[in-house]
Amino acid sequence: MTLRAVLAGTGSALPRTRVSNAELAERVDTSDEWIVERTGIRFRHVAEPDETTATLGAAAAREALAAAGLEPSDIGLIILATATPDNTFPASATKVQALLGAPDCIAFDVAAVCSGFLYALSVADSMLRTGAAKHALVIGSETFSRILDWEDRATCVLFGDGAGAVVLSAEDVADDRGILATRLHAEGQYCDMLYVDGGPSTTGTVGHVRMQGREVFRHAVTNLAAVLGEVLADVGLSASDVDWVVPHQANKRIIDATAKKLGLPAERVVLTVDQHANTSAASVPLALDLAVRDGRIRRGDLVVLEAMGGGFTWGAAILRI
Ligand code: ACO
Repeated sequence: MTLRAVLAGTGSALPRTRVSNAELAERVDTSDEWIVERTGIRFRHVAEPDETTATLGAAAAREALAAAGLEPSDIGLIILATATPDNTFPASATKVQALLGAPDCIAFDVAAVCSGFLYALSVADSMLRTGAAKHALVIGSETFSRILDWEDRATCVLFGDGAGAVVLSAEDVADDRGILATRLHAEGQYCDMLYVDGGPSTTGTVGHVRMQGREVFRHAVTNLAAVLGEVLADVGLSASDVDWVVPHQANKRIIDATAKKLGLPAERVVLTVDQHANTSAASVPLALDLAVRDGRIRRGDLVVLEAMGGGFTWGAAILRI
């Protein structure tokens, strides 16, 4: 028997308001045609003032708990990945804990921007396997609409708000179920290519997203293909063994180019970027939840998750459902 972190449930939450490309084109100099052709994005959800990273994260967590058949009191660990916390402190994970009514447990945020969920998942996997908790909530939740420069058409069309969550349970398994391998990377020399131009310790303001789109694109395809190769090699499997890829949903062209590099057919890639745009740390668990709920991802499937974002940071995980 092997102690592994096993996926016990998934959940997600989206803000009430959905904004189409055509509606965005009324505010900034862009078009549905340009956005669809360059990114594959058609819609994004934008949070209303009463919808925050913590409230969306808690809504996604409730769904994941229900799917796992667990109560908030069963949770010993909450890790929330976000670049858009409700407050500079405390960690939004503790706000989620309060909203859920979960008693004393471990709760903290992870900041790795778009790859935050992969970082959080990897930390939770390690902590569950070393006995820190029996059940963990791993959440990606973002309200990027609050840090977008709505005058900058090169960035504001790309992002959306939302949350996704998973429950992981430490289980002694006799088969290969659970998280089999994770890999994380960071190359801080590229931190100026995708960043927010504000912060508590510099400007004292929240700031706005700034990006060198072409450079991000180039690094994303190279890094994501490499890290997927790494997790497959870690478990001695190849791309043809993979049932589903759940990629970070930044741009359809990045997703297609990465899949092509690895020889993964498009039918095995979960795509939500058209409906949600880039929801940063929320995109992978949101897409995972969608594909679990619509019956595509089933018990026994081999699934790979991957993401890359500001830092640069990137990572991948491979798990048997
Ligand atoms: N609508 C219309 N025109 C636009 C828009 C817009 N929303 N944005 C930029 N343009 C214009 C530019 O001004 C430029 O015009 P010019 O030629 O007259 O100067 C022209 O379109 C081309 O601009 P580029 O930035 O060179 O366009 P590119 O083909 O590189 O596409 C894009 C831009 C979509 C951002 C692309 O670089 C990209 O996808 N990069 C990856 C970035 C990404 O996905 N980031 C998300 C966060 S990182 C991550 O999650 C991996």
